[in-house]
Amino acid sequence: MKTALITGANKGIGLETARQLLQKGFYVYLGSRNLANGLKAVEKLESKGFTNLEAVQLDVTDENSVKAAREEVGKRTDVLDVLINNAGINGGSPYTALESNSDQFMTAFNTNVFGVARVTQAFIDLLRKSPEPRIVNVSTSVGSLTLQSDPDWFAYDFAKYAVYGSSKAALNMYTIHLAYELRTTPFKVNAVCPGYTSTDFTGHNGGEVEEAGKRIIRYALIDQNGPTGKFFSEESNPETGEIPW
Ligand SMILES: NC(=O)c1ccc[n+]([C@@H]2O[C@H](COP(=O)([O-])OP(=O)(O)OC[C@H]3O[C@@H](n4cnc5c(N)ncnc54)[C@H](OP(=O)(O)O)[C@@H]3O)[C@@H](O)[C@H]2O)c1
Repeated sequence: MKTALITGANKGIGLETARQLLQKGFYVYLGSRNLANGLKAVEKLESKGFTNLEAVQLDVTDENSVKAAREEVGKRTDVLDVLINNAGINGGSPYTALESNSDQFMTAFNTNVFGVARVTQAFIDLLRKSPEPRIVNVSTSVGSLTLQSDPDWFAYDFAKYAVYGSSKAALNMYTIHLAYELRTTPFKVNAVCPGYTSTDFTGHNGGEVEEAGKRIIRYALIDQNGPTGKFFSEESNPETGEIPW
């Protein structure tokens, strides 16, 4: 049975992604910074008939928590096939380049960028044991430098997220380097935007969480001929899904 770890899986897109991977026959570790919330999420999925899952305490900003999560998962499996770096925050308001403060930048980067590096490095040994390891870094089209600087892009005038956008642009660059370093291996490493989705993150505005989950798991399930080191947003490019960095 293939195994997957999803960070921030106790709610929102992470929880839905867990549900969809369970449907595909995976054993899923649901990372949750608050274990009680993770256990509630497990109960929710178990009440729908899923059995191959468990919650793991995992705060991506806390080195000790990440190490402990690696030990816990390592006691249960020798191999991790899929890592979905989903945990993310928007850094809070004010959102603009002139008003947001350095604490907001540090907090957002700690979760959205350094957190991804921490978790990826901690679990890379388990992933290396998979014949077809996949890493999906959950990004956003508002982290695309090319789109955000294009006056013709539909979100040019309203996506004014200096902190969040900067952190996801940095995550994108991390993804490029990670894919490069793993280019001679069977790994596929991609950044994927789930699209504007109704979760706590957006005050429950946006599209269906099921659609967001589908967009993410597509890149967790790609075969050996699939892409690596690319950036996808089906919302921004419904034809091929690929968008510029
Ligand atoms: N919703 C959208 O429209 C949208 C669009 C593009 C990209 N995204 C990206 O999609 C991902 C999921 O977002 P969402 O909409 O599902 O948001 P959400 O409902 O707010 O869920 C975010 C998840 O991340 C977790 N998290 C936050 N900080 C963490 C930390 N330090 N350690 C571990 N987990 C942490 C949260 O845990 P708690 O419950 O403990 O807070 C929660 O489980 C994010 O990376 C976001 O940037 C979302």
